[in-house]
Amino acid sequence: MSFSASSFLALALALVADAHPAAHSKPCNQPYDIPLIRNKDYGWFANISIGTPPQPMTVFTDWTWTSQYAISTTCDGVEGNTADCLSPAQQLFNQSNSATYKDETSLYPSESWFPNEFFPAPFNVDYASDVQTIGPVTSRIVLQTSNIQPGIFTQFTLPFGGIYGMMPDPKGENASDLSPFNQQYKDGAWPEPYAAFSFCPGPSCPEGADAIQTLGGYSKALARKGLHWYDVVDVPAVNELAFTFSPKIYSYWSIQVSGLFIGSERQALNTTAAKQGDGVPAAIFDHASKGRGIPLSTDAYARLVQITRAKPVPAGSPILSAPPNNGPQPFFTVDCRKTRFFPPITYTFSGDRTRWTVEPSEYIAKVGDACVIDARTLGKGSYLLGNFGDNFLKGKYVVFDFKKNRVGLAKV
Ligand SMILES: *[C@@H]1O[C@H](CO)[C@@H](O)[C@H](O)[C@H]1NC(C)=O
Ligand SMILES: *[C@@H]1O[C@H](CO)[C@@H](O)[C@H](O)[C@H]1NC(C)=O
Ligand SMILES: *[C@@H]1O[C@H](CO)[C@@H](O)[C@H](O)[C@H]1NC(C)=O
Ligand SMILES: *[C@@H]1O[C@H](CO)[C@@H](O)[C@H](O)[C@H]1NC(C)=O
Repeated sequence: MSFSASSFLALALALVADAHPAAHSKPCNQPYDIPLIRNKDYGWFANISIGTPPQPMTVFTDWTWTSQYAISTTCDGVEGNTADCLSPAQQLFNQSNSATYKDETSLYPSESWFPNEFFPAPFNVDYASDVQTIGPVTSRIVLQTSNIQPGIFTQFTLPFGGIYGMMPDPKGENASDLSPFNQQYKDGAWPEPYAAFSFCPGPSCPEGADAIQTLGGYSKALARKGLHWYDVVDVPAVNELAFTFSPKIYSYWSIQVSGLFIGSERQALNTTAAKQGDGVPAAIFDHASKGRGIPLSTDAYARLVQITRAKPVPAGSPILSAPPNNGPQPFFTVDCRKTRFFPPITYTFSGDRTRWTVEPSEYIAKVGDACVIDARTLGKGSYLLGNFGDNFLKGKYVVFDFKKNRVGLAKV
């Protein structure tokens, strides 16, 4: 859909004129742009609400989580001893105050992950259902309510009340594993199975927004240079290298990387890992904190360090207390005056030959007066499994297709 003001209005009017009688309480016949605000520690936040009357909630939008997770009043299995688990300032969903809340534990058994990517204790969830309101849409979803252990968060306030999971959906599962967007789409609340992300400034960015997440469609204006679609592939190594969960979680927006270049120099990609069951070289789309830094194999990073004549950041340097990304690799500084002469990094993905480039201005980060290579590596040697997020996405438009399980990219 086009979001330029005039064509958008014309389109909206056309859609309203065409509208069929509503099958659900509040469906929407056009996409909706949720403004996102970037949080330096976590990633991207949005405002939604859950329950009746609607309880407003700021959610951490997460391309790498399954469900709608809501911090609830339940603590250690008991609904009312919230104070033993959460700080008094913690934003939460109070299920007792919602007339439409329904316990669904008889249909969907409670789950627990340990270890998990969220905190150093079992991540326990119960299943419930309630209505979720996002912009113009209100419809019932199955969601995860928190069941936290006492003590973990009593001294610490999370700056959000829930996690809006946007994972593609694992095969053969049910609503307990479907992202809230996909549940609402399947329920007829959204016109198309797409969710898209673009940085601000842009055509539908309100004042103060850092990015836009479009639900139920995508902007034809932003995709005008052409969307290239890439099928999602399975990468079992993801659960060892990128996101560690037990039981394991494998369903990500991951696509096969077919080429990696520094300037025009092709870098080796380990493809034998696939034979060992680890999966092909892959890009996992993730715009939370693990998606920061330009993803490189360990070998390609070493080559970039050599080409840019970068110097290791010494132990104890203040750079290490505010590094540009949270990857396990060492950091290197370069001569700031030379940045613009550095080579671009280019990726190709299985499906076509389009080259997706990241300029040095996107992979050199300023930390104080220093210029640091903002690269993130996972795995060994030439095995590339990278979290593709903010640094890769600058100047690009990304669309997730929940129906055909594919990722669309366009140059902006
Ligand atoms: C959510 O709403 C609050 C209150 O209006 C506002 O201050 C905040 O910036 C909003 N956050 C997002 C991510 O839109
Ligand atoms: C949740 O709502 C119930 C019923 O209104 C109230 O008694 C309880 O104090 C609330 N809990 C919290 C943590 O706000
Ligand atoms: C949903 O899937 C979970 C996990 O496979 C299973 O335990 C549960 O019984 C299923 N529930 C329904 C209602 O199908
Ligand atoms: C390829 O990567 C896999 C997984 O990291 C590793 O086990 C294997 O030794 C690597 N093979 C080569 C030839 O680098």
